[in-house]
Amino acid sequence: MSFRIQPAAPARPNRCQLFGPGSKSLLFPKMAASDADVINLDLEDSVAPSDKEQARANVIEAINTVDWGKKYLSVRINGLDTPYWYRDVVDILEQAGDRLDQIMIPKVGCAEDVYAVDALVTAIERAKGRTKPVSFEVIIESAAGIAHVEAIAASSPRLQAMSLGAADFAASMGMQTTGIGGTQENYYMLREGQKHWSDPWHWAQAAIVAACRTHGILPVDGPFGDFSDAEGYIAQAKRSATLGMVGKWAIHPSQISLANEVFTPSAAAVAEAREILAAMEAAKASGAGATVYKGRLVDIASIKQAEVIVAQAELIAES
Ligand code: COA
Ligand code: MG
Repeated sequence: MSFRIQPAAPARPNRCQLFGPGSKSLLFPKMAASDADVINLDLEDSVAPSDKEQARANVIEAINTVDWGKKYLSVRINGLDTPYWYRDVVDILEQAGDRLDQIMIPKVGCAEDVYAVDALVTAIERAKGRTKPVSFEVIIESAAGIAHVEAIAASSPRLQAMSLGAADFAASMGMQTTGIGGTQENYYMLREGQKHWSDPWHWAQAAIVAACRTHGILPVDGPFGDFSDAEGYIAQAKRSATLGMVGKWAIHPSQISLANEVFTPSAAAVAEAREILAAMEAAKASGAGATVYKGRLVDIASIKQAEVIVAQAELIAES
């Protein structure tokens, strides 16, 4: 155990991030009225090159005029390998008001990508006298991104969240996948003639969670392409939650309640966590380092897990 205390991730609910193309301004009020914790207005891959400028103008107007309530409001800028990204940053930070919470940087491949955006954002914030610093979230969606994931997680004090982008990740890795996220037809083990499907995203997700938890960043699962497959979405979200991720993207409103359900700790789980904390308090009062709760050992590690569940439930109740 390192003597360093693991930093806490930002204290805000991030169960579902709802995306909508910046070119489709009719969707913005619907997004604002949804039950998603985070809104991602997209300037990147859901916007055609010919629509980039209009989308940027739409997004700036929407940040300034739509009532976003308590939503955490983020804009996905274009990647650093495009001619669009600097203008996204400059126009948004110069023209959009303080309602903007976050910028999402896609296809991050190294810590210096984040540094570059941070330098530009910092200069504009100072020049314009912006008083609320914009936070960052990044997408890990390339071989370079996952290879450098720990350095990326440590790259900027602005960084709050990190998502796995399954589709671009699969392409960059040369993975033979069909569909975005979820079960892959050809990723199975054979036993006595029976196929058993495995999870090809497991390694990347676990690497992202470890990097995020080391540096106090929220780890998030990205998109699930087939929005008619609710069961498939839930299965993927449950695996992500099991590995320590805090939420998942929605690319269609039908996916929001699914994410909220999976990433909200159940009433039973919260009640049990509170009971574990109470049992441990009682044990501590009597000088014991561990105790037994419902036939299971409860120790310092169980307390930390229980505290995470209770803290999540309280954050969600407040939101
Ligand atoms: N946010 C809020 N509302 C949305 C929405 C979104 N992302 N996508 C669709 N809706 C609305 C529709 O406007 C429609 O509203 P209505 O009932 O008032 O008419 C309702 O939800 C049902 O939509 P539906 O007809 O099933 O879908 P669609 O064909 O209009 O749109 C997509 C399907 C996938 C094109 C659309 O959901 C979309 O653009 N998603 C986001 C894609 C994206 O941002 N990708 C980048 C990240 S990977
Ligand atoms: Mg992508």
